[in-house]
Amino acid sequence: MQESHLKHIVCPKCRADLKFGEITKREGNRIETGELACTKCDAKYPIARFIPRFVPMENYAAGFGLQWNEHARTQYDSYSGCPISETRFFEETGWPRKMPGETIIEIGSGSGRFTEHAAGTEATVLSLDYSFAVEANYASNGVKENVLIVQGDIYAIPFREGAADRIFCFGVLQHTPDPKKSLLELPRFVKSGGSVVADNYVMPTGIRKLLATKYWVRPFTKNIHPPTLYKFCKFYVNLMWPLSRVIHHLPKGKYINWRLLLSDHRGEFDLSEKTMREWAILDMMDKLGPAYDFPQHLETIQQWFADAGLKDCDVRHGYNGIQGRGTKP
Ligand SMILES: C[S@@+](CC[C@H](N)C(=O)[O-])C[C@H]1O[C@@H](n2cnc3c(N)ncnc32)[C@H](O)[C@@H]1O
Repeated sequence: MQESHLKHIVCPKCRADLKFGEITKREGNRIETGELACTKCDAKYPIARFIPRFVPMENYAAGFGLQWNEHARTQYDSYSGCPISETRFFEETGWPRKMPGETIIEIGSGSGRFTEHAAGTEATVLSLDYSFAVEANYASNGVKENVLIVQGDIYAIPFREGAADRIFCFGVLQHTPDPKKSLLELPRFVKSGGSVVADNYVMPTGIRKLLATKYWVRPFTKNIHPPTLYKFCKFYVNLMWPLSRVIHHLPKGKYINWRLLLSDHRGEFDLSEKTMREWAILDMMDKLGPAYDFPQHLETIQQWFADAGLKDCDVRHGYNGIQGRGTKP
């Protein structure tokens, strides 16, 4: 972290200011190794590999840490050559392309494919993830002057309340122990008039529910040690990939591939076969590994946005299943 970024973070336990404790390694204006200390309570938080750590390194999101480090660049537009994350970031948020002087909070950054686009707006970006995916994000975005990356928890966000202009949370709510509580945490961190954007998987219904393979398989896979599960996903996708190319050309072939847990983006995005195969391995791990996966109905998420006290809400089927925006009164 940069020294100047200290002003953005507070003690997640008592919400008082933090100060630097012992600093053991620096690189220019950035602190590589050291400690943050609360100015009020006795809490101390390590800074390791340039990242302030507010949660234990090992936690329920370890599988995410593994997948986002194995696939640190897979979904980056600058790697795939397609503006997929850029398009989603601006369409889902409805935010302007340039926001100098503003502050944006990102909750659940993963490898940082959206951090890249948030940072490109010239706003200050405060990005948080629970898992060691923060390492992958740091490698891509950490040295940018306007980006601070921390390892923290959506239920104990170490940023100042009411200080940010905007907050977004993509692909995260359904993977937390209590998605409604997670959404309700977000508005506190933006100013009055600030924008809150979040999404959630949609609940499959009817025949779709019966054919939602991952929800049949997950009870057996979600507790598998992440490195073992990842090896299995890689083996399965590599084995099945030639067959998936054949299946794709059958009637409903794309649909069959998805039911076989083989992400099939052929014809949808202009990705190379190599990149699509990487996405398929990542997607399979992302489906089978998470400790929590709570899809919701549209009406439920609409109600949650209202319960969060947001106004001008626009919650609809869209990115990640259900996408929602609202404004803090
Ligand atoms: C499916 S990934 C989405 C990553 C990224 N937003 C994207 O769409 O590429 C979900 C992320 O949520 C994070 N996460 C899960 N529980 C969390 C929590 N309690 N607090 C903060 N982040 C959490 C995981 O570590 C993981 O990186």
